[in-house]
Amino acid sequence: MKTKAFAPVNVAPIKYWGKEDEKLRIPANSNLSMCLEKLGTETEVEFRDNLKRDEVWIDGREVGGRARERVLRQIERIRRLTDRKEKVKVMSRNNFPKSTGLSSSASGMGALTVAGCKAAGLSLSEKELSRLARLASGSACRSIPDGWVEWVKGSGDKTSYAKQVFPVKHRDLRILVVILSKVEKRISTTKGHGIAKTSPFYKKRMETVRRDLRLIKKYIRERDFQKFGEMLEDESLNMHAVMLTSRPNLIYWLPETVRVMQAVQGWRKQGLESYFTINTGQNVFVVCEAKNEKGLVSRLEKIEGVLEVKRDKVGRGSRLI
Ligand code: PMV
Repeated sequence: MKTKAFAPVNVAPIKYWGKEDEKLRIPANSNLSMCLEKLGTETEVEFRDNLKRDEVWIDGREVGGRARERVLRQIERIRRLTDRKEKVKVMSRNNFPKSTGLSSSASGMGALTVAGCKAAGLSLSEKELSRLARLASGSACRSIPDGWVEWVKGSGDKTSYAKQVFPVKHRDLRILVVILSKVEKRISTTKGHGIAKTSPFYKKRMETVRRDLRLIKKYIRERDFQKFGEMLEDESLNMHAVMLTSRPNLIYWLPETVRVMQAVQGWRKQGLESYFTINTGQNVFVVCEAKNEKGLVSRLEKIEGVLEVKRDKVGRGSRLI
């Protein structure tokens, strides 16, 4: 059977950086994200007897190396749950540049898990899908539920998964995806997680991140956009402070990235409110209220080095299509 699924990118106001268990991908801290409505990955999976070998296609090209291995490792986990032996064809397409800090592994592995399980004849609950997606890429577990999502760290495979904390409709926030370069990152996120502990600031981060998660949920519940936004921005910089000071150090920003960060802060001083958050890459997410979206897009588009601004908002999680 051929099955297709869409999984969204998710953006985390409280980040996952560093693991407690490398293999099971148990995060060092519980974290929180919002699913986007439009940005994401569409993946088709087909198990077929007459295929000579497994095939993995991403963005129109058959891929080998690490990308192929990661996909097939997840297919293997699915095969083990069903005893299926046929070869597989996986066709995946992102509607944004992958490996540039826009969380393509979250949407990619989310869509692969949902489409793969269905194609294999499995019918898993949201929690089971989230746990399975987590094994392929930690943040992918957050692309399964709708809306505002918490990845509860848990204490092992069974208890580490993502669940909805607020529905999509709770708050109509807009997320502007600012694309500055499509060049793929040189150092993988997986490697970054592994060296997070080498930063002298990592321990300090762990001391405050639990409290911050509690606080940000309160700000979201109370719809306090200013406090929410300030924490979102601080938390992103906090994670980057760990990245910048780990060994080897990780500098994902370009001069254009800093230009956008400073512009956002400058506009805020003038009364145009928005906040930025950045993952492992050069591109930037800018979060704002609906009333300021238009003004911000036209300003962002005028910044030197900005290739494109994609408009998005808080949205649903993974679904079959
Ligand atoms: O799931 P991974 O291994 O791609 O890690 C995601 C890490 C960050 O994007 C930097 C932070 C986050 O929580 O999304």
